[in-house]
Amino acid sequence: MRKVLVGTAVICAAAAAVAVTAIVVQHRRRINRRWARVAAVLKELEEQCATPTEKLKEVADAMTREMHAGLESEDGSTLKMLISFVDKLPTGDERGLFYALDLGGTNFRVLRVQLGGKEGRVVKQESKEVSIPQELMIGSSDELFDFIASALAQFVASEGVDFHLPEGKQRELGFTFSFPVKQTSIASGTLIKWTKRFNIKSTVGEDVVSELTRAMKRQGLDMQVTALVNDTVGALAGGIYDDNDVVAAIILGTGTNAAYVERADAIKKWQGPLPNSGKMVINMEWGNFRSSHLPTTDYDQALDAESLNPGEQIYEKLISGMYLGEIVRRVLLRLAVEAALFGEEVPPQLKVPFVLRTPVMSAMHHDTSADLKVVGAKLQEFLGISSSSLKARKVVVQVCDIVAKRGARLAAAGMVGILKKLGHSNGKTKKRMAFAMDGGLYEHYTLFRESLLAALKEVLGEEASASVSVTMANDGSGIGASLLAASHSRYLEN
Ligand code: GLC
Repeated sequence: MRKVLVGTAVICAAAAAVAVTAIVVQHRRRINRRWARVAAVLKELEEQCATPTEKLKEVADAMTREMHAGLESEDGSTLKMLISFVDKLPTGDERGLFYALDLGGTNFRVLRVQLGGKEGRVVKQESKEVSIPQELMIGSSDELFDFIASALAQFVASEGVDFHLPEGKQRELGFTFSFPVKQTSIASGTLIKWTKRFNIKSTVGEDVVSELTRAMKRQGLDMQVTALVNDTVGALAGGIYDDNDVVAAIILGTGTNAAYVERADAIKKWQGPLPNSGKMVINMEWGNFRSSHLPTTDYDQALDAESLNPGEQIYEKLISGMYLGEIVRRVLLRLAVEAALFGEEVPPQLKVPFVLRTPVMSAMHHDTSADLKVVGAKLQEFLGISSSSLKARKVVVQVCDIVAKRGARLAAAGMVGILKKLGHSNGKTKKRMAFAMDGGLYEHYTLFRESLLAALKEVLGEEASASVSVTMANDGSGIGASLLAASHSRYLEN
């Protein structure tokens, strides 16, 4: 009897062991299948986002072609090539107290500077940054402008004795409004459309200076807007103030755009009298650039289709700070759904659009710790993923790398397109040309910046790239706008 019992127990144990082994094997197979799926998704992403030098050259050429087309006629290109009415750039002689208001992202800034001519330069400056509540970005235009004008009024009230406004003069403001505007003069222009997830219906087609002026009046603020400029145009002015060789300005921040100095007679669509200087600053609105050469993926297409402006700002949606983190989120969500990258359950937070901001992506991308603890902490803080394997964290970093590199390299290709339009890099000139750069993405996302600079060299070649430089126009759009307010001051003697 005992023998029978022992025999049965041995058989049962053996059966259990076989069952356990089968489960373990099955589990291992499932895990292997999942990692194989992860590898396949990553491989596909890498291939679709690839930007070999030849591709970048094609993008650069397409950019140059579109620039020509946009200068020929209105609506001749995806590039609006907007005439800025800035035909005089700062010389260094600007003097006096000027204000600037910089609106264009999730924050706006107010700024005052005391300019002291060639010797004094920027004698003193003060600024204040205010973040815009989310609901105001999609509310009514009166609400938005009242909020801004009230902050400006408070800032003016805090003006100290170091700033001097001559008796009888009204304070003047350079208004950096970083959206596509059809200018009608240096101090007026109508909004073409909102970008960067602003969506206030009533402002499209309105003169933005009148909107701001009305709001300033409502707030009891006595101030005159003397220059309405795009942030790229402000950055260009600020850049030239510091370095005469600056030919173009690039913004890489929440959005992306470029402005450059064009020969006025090359602007075929221009119907006004040619300016004395023979030059005109063009706001390219390059964020709206589109080309079959741009490497795009299903994630980009879905992001675009679900955006506030489908079909528009395609280049911007591949490059700028507003979107990079969101592209990464979409890839991670697919990996979570198809390959259980973060465990059996898909983290609910990962399904929320725009929850992964680019600064968070950047922090994860720059994590050099052996166990990627920053990645782990950010996944927990922003996506509610309480534990992640090291392997999964490595995947996250890889996704950030692919998405950031593509954006940075495409931005570099756009810059080469501008250089070509200006006759550089096609052998016509070896003159030094400098870009003034502004925007948090370029400033703070080191790996993005490094990829961009490397790609610029790669596409231009060693020799041509030696005469091209990129400098951070620190606060170009703030100081630049006040410089333009100064050079277009109503108190200037002509
Ligand atoms: C968006 C705007 C553009 C601005 C850029 C950078 O592309 O349309 O006007 O210059 O963002 O802020």
